[in-house]
Amino acid sequence: MRASVPISILVALCTLGACRQGGLYPDGEISNDANRPEYGDPDAVEPYDGDNEIVLEAQENFPTALDFHQKVIWRTCTPFDGVCHNSKEYPDLRTPAGFISTFGAPCNLQFGEFQSVYDGCERTGDRIVLGGGGFGEGELEIGYIEYLPGESNGFDSTPADDAPGLHIHLATPAQNDRPEGYATADFSRKFITDGVVEELVYASLSTRWWVLGDGTHLVGEVPDYRVEKVQDLLAIGIVEGDANHNGIFGATVYERPATLLEPGDPESSYLIARLRGEMHGEEVPGSRMPLANKPFSIPEMLALFCLVEGYSEEASTTGLTLPIDYRNCSYSDDPEGLNLLGAGVTWEGRVRKILEFNCGGCHSGTEPADGLNLLEGDVYERLLEKSAHVPELALIEPGDETASYLYLKLIGDDSIVGQPMPYNPITGEGTLTQAEIDDVLTWIINGAVEDE
Ligand code: HEC
Repeated sequence: MRASVPISILVALCTLGACRQGGLYPDGEISNDANRPEYGDPDAVEPYDGDNEIVLEAQENFPTALDFHQKVIWRTCTPFDGVCHNSKEYPDLRTPAGFISTFGAPCNLQFGEFQSVYDGCERTGDRIVLGGGGFGEGELEIGYIEYLPGESNGFDSTPADDAPGLHIHLATPAQNDRPEGYATADFSRKFITDGVVEELVYASLSTRWWVLGDGTHLVGEVPDYRVEKVQDLLAIGIVEGDANHNGIFGATVYERPATLLEPGDPESSYLIARLRGEMHGEEVPGSRMPLANKPFSIPEMLALFCLVEGYSEEASTTGLTLPIDYRNCSYSDDPEGLNLLGAGVTWEGRVRKILEFNCGGCHSGTEPADGLNLLEGDVYERLLEKSAHVPELALIEPGDETASYLYLKLIGDDSIVGQPMPYNPITGEGTLTQAEIDDVLTWIINGAVEDE
């Protein structure tokens, strides 16, 4: 077996930022001046002196990035354990410094469902080289990699597409003049240290490989005694060029991977795209942030946009306490345009459908569950009526989710009578996705209007 870099070293390299830089600056251009100049001069930013109420409110409440972190970001972290981004979740937004370090940092480094990765965040994938075994030499870019557990049958015949084993989907076909054989796969990544680009093999796996289909699908046999090694390999966090498995290799489509917050360019900042659900008119997958919390108000959005727009490349953590420049911020002209509340989340467009699909099965017909028909007739009117069980609350109280009994049923609030909804007779649990619950919440906060 070839020498490979132990995992601990790799993790250390990543912690130092080498992995991130490898993805962001593929040409090896990194300027790192230890004695970088102090950022800006606090007195250089003149306050906004116009008469737009929203700008004045934002300036008053969020004079600096630190205030924005304390009053807005931190708020989304505190009430719900596990909802907040913490040290185990990327990005870690708990501290002001963590928040500021999202400037220029790559997005979707850690994700739950692979479908939630945005193509624009995908980076150039790690490579594998299959040495020996007749697969031909040469680097193959990893699109995505999956370990399907299960007993290996020794692969007496060509394995199925979903056979147990390590499945590696490639950007380009492996040479498959010999579709099967023992080989050592070296996993490598480009690291940039002090401006020098190095291709480092960080792990190796020797096993029997098969080339399936058009050659872009490799399956490696994983006998019992190698399971742990394979799990370690996956735990490293292999960079996948097609992390969302949709056939598009983001790094080949976009000029460079998106960053969480892009200095000078709020519209290209992934964190902001996740608040809005889109970037440059393109839908961004994944539920809108902040989860289980009120969407940002307009002054909060303005503060974030002006902070990002005015943030300079050279800024360091000292930027935290510098005034946000509302005066020169282009968004101060029309802060209303940043309205997040209710964007696209309407009764007809979304909420009615969520209720029809998820609730109509029981809440319909001549004997709807609890006498509540959520499918037929004038459903909207019915929602404004009182709950049968908790008559002091309406099912929907426009503008106030805490007084909307139907919403409390959705989130399984402690105060409800009976089961959380939608009731699943098998698991006994509610089954709406967080995104759907967020949509209902957004709609309620915005006055629960019945649109045409
Ligand atoms: C499997 C059947 C089933 C499904 C699906 C279902 N419900 Fe129910 N629902 C019930 C039953 C049974 C009750 C009465 C018992 C209770 O409250 O737990 C009820 C009660 C309710 C109540 C209380 C009505 C009141 O006047 O107090 C609300 C509100 C409600 N459901 C909303 C929903 C919503 C919203 C959905 C879809 C997201 C949904 N339900 C899906 C069976 C269902």
